[in-house]
Amino acid sequence: MLYLVSSTGQRRGQAMVDPGAARRVEELREEINYHNYRYYVLDSPVISDAEYDQLMRELLQWEERYPELVTPNSPTQRVGAAPVEGFAEVEHPVPLLSLANAFSGDELRAWHRRALDLLEGATFAMACELKVDGLAVALTYEDGRLLRGATRGDGHRGEDVTLNLRTIRSIPLAVAGEGVPRRFEVRGEVYFPKSRFARLNEERIARGEPPFANPRNAAAGSLRQLDPRVTASRPLDIYVYGLGYAEDGAVPDNHWDAMARLKEMGFKVNPSNALCHTLEEVEGYYHRWMEAKEHLDYAVDGVVVKVNPFSYQQHLGVVGREPRWAVAYKFPATQAVTRLLDIGISVGRTGALNPYAILEPVDVGGAMVKLATLHNEEDIRRKDIHVQDYVFVERAGEVIPQVLGPVVARRPASAPQCDACQSHFHAAREHPAEITWKGGMPDRCPACGQPVVKPQDEVMSYCGNGACPARFAQSLIHFAGRAGMDIEGLGEKLCLALIEAGLVRDVADVYALTKEQLLTLERMGEKSASNVLASIERSKGRPVPNVLFALGIRHVGLETAELLARHFGSLDRLSQATPEELSTVPGIGPKIGESIVAHFGQEGNRGILEKLREAGVRMAAEKLKAELRPTPLVGLQFVVTGRLASLSRSEAEDRIKELGGSVGSSVTRKTTYLVVGEEPSSKLDDARRLGTAMLTEEEFLKLLAGELPRETVPRG
Ligand code: IVH
Repeated sequence: MLYLVSSTGQRRGQAMVDPGAARRVEELREEINYHNYRYYVLDSPVISDAEYDQLMRELLQWEERYPELVTPNSPTQRVGAAPVEGFAEVEHPVPLLSLANAFSGDELRAWHRRALDLLEGATFAMACELKVDGLAVALTYEDGRLLRGATRGDGHRGEDVTLNLRTIRSIPLAVAGEGVPRRFEVRGEVYFPKSRFARLNEERIARGEPPFANPRNAAAGSLRQLDPRVTASRPLDIYVYGLGYAEDGAVPDNHWDAMARLKEMGFKVNPSNALCHTLEEVEGYYHRWMEAKEHLDYAVDGVVVKVNPFSYQQHLGVVGREPRWAVAYKFPATQAVTRLLDIGISVGRTGALNPYAILEPVDVGGAMVKLATLHNEEDIRRKDIHVQDYVFVERAGEVIPQVLGPVVARRPASAPQCDACQSHFHAAREHPAEITWKGGMPDRCPACGQPVVKPQDEVMSYCGNGACPARFAQSLIHFAGRAGMDIEGLGEKLCLALIEAGLVRDVADVYALTKEQLLTLERMGEKSASNVLASIERSKGRPVPNVLFALGIRHVGLETAELLARHFGSLDRLSQATPEELSTVPGIGPKIGESIVAHFGQEGNRGILEKLREAGVRMAAEKLKAELRPTPLVGLQFVVTGRLASLSRSEAEDRIKELGGSVGSSVTRKTTYLVVGEEPSSKLDDARRLGTAMLTEEEFLKLLAGELPRETVPRG
């Protein structure tokens, strides 16, 4: 059996360390490595974040006391070493090949037929894997240690990015066990999670840096950082997909078993991999993932089909740089070219004016796209995008579609100019009103007509009117959103209708709404009104960080809100905090501090806080223990499928929500548990494919009753 190990690698010639300390350090490393593996590779932690932090803290303390015990492979050393000057070139002993593409079932069949012919009719199983859209890397291990990690480069030579790869927690720094080859190379794809991509770009834009076009570029940009501390701050991850070579060790005779072995050694192998025996099964895999890929937290652009036995792979060989034993069966393109009809401007909740593209509708990977983001004015200029240009549009999963750039070759020789201002940036037509895009941001807010301000050190322009109705609408939508007060039924449409009807003038007014008032709105029936009021009532018990996040203070995301709530305990204390006090909170920089002080410095915002308190919204963490029921399911997402014998579907969902959990409608990577009743739907298949934990009705009831130990509950 192979297992992960840590290493103390005792160095010679150094002062003797207390053997008790050395033993404890070794124990801690083994334990932390094990929990890293559970958390980062298996996605199934068995201890809480706090317990993990405690182990890490203890190890750090020992290492501080006995620096001679620090080894490069200690889990404390993943945080990122000092910057390197540039990347050294690395020669790949076995080249990293590329793949031939198949764009249709016919092309896949043609590939299969050719392989069959070359193998003179011998049949073979095929390993099917998702083609992760990131950056290929090769990891070399020698004597059980990660020796080097390199990018693919041109396939023959890559860059030595060892220090950066070491910061990726799912890459084992050491492996051990019987039969581990003395030297071997593992290959895989490093990716940037989709769910973190938008935030990374927001931060980059705020700093005046160009946003990344897609998660793949974000992965490459993060891995090719000269300062590993920057890489360490990025949430990179990896799936390994192959063995480059292995010296002096037993290696299975086929790809599928080799992957199982790598998994055993602690590498992160994609749980969606499948071994197919017929082309029909391969087609089935491909179509299932074409549907389900949007729910993955990483970008994929197809399925890689590999002939399983290594001896057959060898027989089939390589033509040019493409092996005949594998093929990339591509999903329909997620990029398209279309006409940019105009540039619109929307107003966000912070007052930021966001330019967006109004496009000639185009099918991008199976979805019609009419609007796409353009980030900011500087980005439009940098990419040299003109209205009426043909532009590349990309849609990557749940990431908002975006305009990548113009097809310069298709721009008319004399680009249309605006008659009024001679700008190329918008169409030759009557000069648009003062408040729309005219080759630059307008001087007045398109929603309220008040002056626009542009802070000197920012790339964004803002509506300066705190009472701007468009800003307020976005604030209300944010307030009621999932990560905020999570008021089900209070979506964009209802928010706008409530504002229009004058029923809500600030976010706290939501708690004064009556059924009679709701019933005056168009298309609002008795039942919907009761449901909305019930979810408004329920939202009063939201955890303090979510309430704080819901207030929509600039620069205060959910993670920051958690730090602040933990430090101050109550919103009252936070609202009275001075900049000096805020500057002592770990993780809170001056920009966030200033923003908080400015927010609560406004009388209107203090009034909202007061109204929320009067309405009974949770304002202090202590209240949770003293007055409200416990919420042991916070952070866990449940999906229910099939019939439950002892309670109805909605009762089950209500119980989950009462205990702080959330309920999803389909199984995704974010789902913690699928509760399986009688006659389950295809959600069960989805859960199996994604490796989602499942609960029988009996287990589910036990969990609700608090009878299942908390340790069995993975982190959400
Ligand atoms: S196998 C000869 N498997 O796709 C086999 N590649 O176009 C070569 N990729 O550079 C690679 N996921 O970066 C393989 N499951 C997977 C993959 C995968 C993504 C990338 C890889 C490679 C490119 C080939």
